[in-house]
Amino acid sequence: MARIVDLRSDTITRPSPEMRRAIYEAEVGDDVFGDDPTVIRLQERVAEILGKEAALFVPSGTMANQIAMLCHTSPGDEVYLEAGSHVFNFESGAVAMIAGVILHIIEGRNGAYTAEQVAERLRPGDHHFAPSRLIWVENSANRAGGTIFPQSEIIKLKALSEKHGLSIHLDGARIWNVAAATEMSEAELAAPFDSVNVCLSKGLGAPIGSLIAGSKELINEAHRFRKRLGGGMRQVGIIAAAGLYAIEHNRTRLIEDHIRAKKLAEAINNQEAFTVDLDNADTNIIVFDTTPSGLSGPDVNNRLKKHGVLGTSFSGTRVRLVTHLDINDSDIEYVIEVFNKTQIW
Ligand SMILES: Cc1ncc(COP(=O)(O)O)c(C=O)c1O
Repeated sequence: MARIVDLRSDTITRPSPEMRRAIYEAEVGDDVFGDDPTVIRLQERVAEILGKEAALFVPSGTMANQIAMLCHTSPGDEVYLEAGSHVFNFESGAVAMIAGVILHIIEGRNGAYTAEQVAERLRPGDHHFAPSRLIWVENSANRAGGTIFPQSEIIKLKALSEKHGLSIHLDGARIWNVAAATEMSEAELAAPFDSVNVCLSKGLGAPIGSLIAGSKELINEAHRFRKRLGGGMRQVGIIAAAGLYAIEHNRTRLIEDHIRAKKLAEAINNQEAFTVDLDNADTNIIVFDTTPSGLSGPDVNNRLKKHGVLGTSFSGTRVRLVTHLDINDSDIEYVIEVFNKTQIW
């Protein structure tokens, strides 16, 4: 069979034999009754890593995001977030349907925005306006290319949230990558936030699962919303065991994904046909622009696919490639070779 290098997402990884063993050996109970010891261990461990009082295991990042929205807002409230946010672009309009909030979109840079940009958008208390309620940060920012939201700006956003009585949430689906890239701990990165969600199935190699973390009170609320959304699961320790394995074994190696992504980004940027913003190639996601080639993102992806290289395209001229646990140095060499076959562009 021809070689396939699948760079569509860091979610495509398959559990390793060791992770499967952890799944096989997991001690389980009915988690809807709060009886699953493996889930309890995972929740405690993630809360500890994030420096929060408590955490709750949920099936997906999307459900974690929706629960966070529900915990912090009432229908009709306004939420401030960046234009590329996952919760705005890729969750099928769930926030409108489930939390019923209004999203105030900020055109930022590299997935980040400033406290000033939020401050100038805050609504007066007058009854004409939606109540300003929540500041939403995504770090790393997926659609922007795995970019890192500057922590100095997050601290300013926190001060702004306190001044105006708003909540502040972190979609930290890939916070592990930010910690690996910045040498700040996950707890330091999460400290300014009232709540954080993290994914086990991106980068860390677990098959399923996300958590939301925050105060005990917030997690108690989150528990009720999880039930309402049908996210209460039974002997789910078999999945939590994979998550625990992933957290203990696959966090420190994320830097390898970043090094490979950087190498590939440089090679793509060396092509006349494409451009990559190398200053923002921070983590494991490469987004390159196909404009100089005259080809659309889907055209470029189709040509790459003929050579066994799989990517995704976000919009007209942007292609995304993601490095992950199941990609090694030889895969990256192969992808660079494919890009260097000038006859394909
Ligand atoms: C930043 C971010 N948040 C949330 C999600 C949603 O996660 P899930 O696919 O588990 O629903 C994703 C998925 O890629 C993501 O990139």
